[in-house]
Amino acid sequence: MNRRYRHTIIAGNWKMNKTAKETKEFAEEMKKLWTVRPKWCDTVICVPACNISTATKAFKELRIAVGAENVYFEPNGAFTGEIAADMLSDLNVKYVIVGHSERRQYFGETDQTVNKKVHAVLNAGMSPIICVGESLEEREKGITDELIALQVKSALSGVSAEQVRRCVIAYEPVWAIGTGRTATAEQAGEVCKNIRSTIRTLYGARVSRSITIQYGGSMNEKNAKELLAQPDIDGGLIGGAALVPEKFLAIINAANQDQE
Ligand code: PGA
Repeated sequence: MNRRYRHTIIAGNWKMNKTAKETKEFAEEMKKLWTVRPKWCDTVICVPACNISTATKAFKELRIAVGAENVYFEPNGAFTGEIAADMLSDLNVKYVIVGHSERRQYFGETDQTVNKKVHAVLNAGMSPIICVGESLEEREKGITDELIALQVKSALSGVSAEQVRRCVIAYEPVWAIGTGRTATAEQAGEVCKNIRSTIRTLYGARVSRSITIQYGGSMNEKNAKELLAQPDIDGGLIGGAALVPEKFLAIINAANQDQE
């Protein structure tokens, strides 16, 4: 983390978990446990679309911003089952996850659709959390850096320097998601540093310094502190551990510690 230049953001990604009732129970539990407000870090939880309204009400007092897990890029029309960016911003959604590897893997998301979604989210006044990451095979082939740079460049194609300040990038190695296998802090820090240097090439040093880059992939209450100690890791995108109030709170507390 480097708080002099950028926000630390801890974001939960609930994926396809929790009903409206369970969302309210989570919020009640958090209220009991959460005694010290985080001074240094913003908190977000991205929930299934059908629970956005419930979560917005339940998380209000906790000051946890509500995010969405996906969006469609067209503004309206005959796209059965899809949700437009304006519909999300209308519900007070602040962040939208775009290009999560599960969407790339199971739902045909490509670098091109990710780029269109990034524009849709920005045009609706929200912040995209843009996920990038390599598979184990790609890491073993030694092409991680080129691949991630390409994903970042594609996602940001046509995005202005003004708009990019609202973007969050999440580095999520595919092999670390939901597997219990975390990238080492050094591995994660190295890729996040390279992402920042790609942004520097595209937008210059001032912009790159101010962008929040998260790590995601089996981040938990035990490894958060070490990962967040890396200078280019400014937060986390957390799946499994964000479903459990005690664990999520422990990660928030790790992100909120004073920096030496
Ligand atoms: P995980 O998920 O923390 O359960 O690995 C992270 C993510 O997919 O965003």
